[in-house]
Amino acid sequence: MTANSVVLQDLPADLQRECLPRHVAVIMDGNGRWAKRRGMPRIMGHRRGVDVLKNLLRLCRDWSIEALTVYAFSTENWGRPSEEVEFLMTLFERVLRKELQEMMQEDVRIRFVGNLSALPRSLQAEIERSMEETANNQGIQFTVATNYGGRQEIIQACRAIADKVQQGLIQPDQIDEALFEHHLYTVGIGDPDLLIRTSGEMRLSNFLLWQMAYGEIYVTDTLWPDFDRNEFHRALCAYQQRERRFGKL
Ligand code: IPE
Ligand code: IPE
Ligand code: MG
Repeated sequence: MTANSVVLQDLPADLQRECLPRHVAVIMDGNGRWAKRRGMPRIMGHRRGVDVLKNLLRLCRDWSIEALTVYAFSTENWGRPSEEVEFLMTLFERVLRKELQEMMQEDVRIRFVGNLSALPRSLQAEIERSMEETANNQGIQFTVATNYGGRQEIIQACRAIADKVQQGLIQPDQIDEALFEHHLYTVGIGDPDLLIRTSGEMRLSNFLLWQMAYGEIYVTDTLWPDFDRNEFHRALCAYQQRERRFGKL
């Protein structure tokens, strides 16, 4: 850890602490385009994206945001060229190994959500290790969606519930929102208040379909590798202007 990183960054004066989102989710998109615009291979964008994520995690912690959930790899991303998929899997593993100590120092609780059993074994091992070691940390809840798909998440919840019904453990009329949420990957993390998507695409791309029922969406044209403190500040300002009605008047 450098001397700089321990200095807490102040909350900008125009942000009100009591109006900040409790939970921020991010679709970190645009790495490939960022690299392409610079005449570099796509993987350079992914590499740069890791540094941007580290900075955002620290900023969230400094500004007392309770939870950050990021989309790292979708169930559809397996359809990319195998070299890119392999690069990403190796990158995730390397970053996890390298950053675990710092996450401990910064009191981060890391958790992975998605179909983790389909990931490379060595990555699964790093994931388990990081989740176990940080489980009792009390700082920010940092969730990484890896091989995550919102539809798959809902289907696996249905299967688990159907299984319990079949075994006679629960009755169909006991299935309500709370019970359903209890079977999602994100159990205990809660719904995002704000979802940020970089690089301009106005879609969810299978991210947090259930959880985003009432989350506010903020889209910026900025590509993920260029997403900095100013950009995050702008997103939080926009969030503070929103009137969340939840269907009421
Ligand atoms: C997001 O950036 C990172 C992952 C999906 C892993 P992209 O790789 O989708 O970058 P673009 O959208 O092609 O620019
Ligand atoms: C969403 O980005 C997935 C991640 C950021 C991990 P994509 O680049 O895969 O989404 P689409 O293809 O533009 O919908
Ligand atoms: Mg993309």
